[in-house]
Amino acid sequence: MLTFAMIKPDAVSKGYAGKIIDCLLAEGFAIRALKLTKLTRAEAEEFYGIHRGKDFFEELMQFSVSGPLIAMALDKDNAVADWRKLIGATNPQKADEGTIRKLYGEGGTKNAAHGADSEENALIEIGFFFTKRELL
Ligand code: RTP
Ligand code: MG
Repeated sequence: MLTFAMIKPDAVSKGYAGKIIDCLLAEGFAIRALKLTKLTRAEAEEFYGIHRGKDFFEELMQFSVSGPLIAMALDKDNAVADWRKLIGATNPQKADEGTIRKLYGEGGTKNAAHGADSEENALIEIGFFFTKRELL
């Protein structure tokens, strides 16, 4: 099963990408696609469209366009739930010990990583960042 994962701009700019990739490979995820890229404002609004109108939306938009991010399609049994478990709770302060957000996140918005929340959204988000021929 595939999931969509992102190393967010805060973690990329702080140099944590290598550690996060080591961690996900050690946990049994295989990388089917990966790119370093940047979102435009319009792309960020589309990607996070479900959060439009929420009080954190503008902060999330500014953060999402603040620098390069790493988008990935990850493959594993139970990938969607297992990746969400590995990144931990949205707020790094509340995330379990050893999770990616606990280790590398700094706050409710700058939380180091993203994970699709369903199989359906995983495929939509993979399609947002990758063409079919980029999926290996
Ligand atoms: P994600 O979509 O990034 O994997 O995170 P999530 O499901 O755990 O959380 P979600 O509710 O979907 O929120 C999306 C992203 O918005 C930012 N956020 N900031 N400051 C805040 O109160 C707040 N709440 C959410 C985070 O970057 C969160 O990951
Ligand atoms: Mg979410």
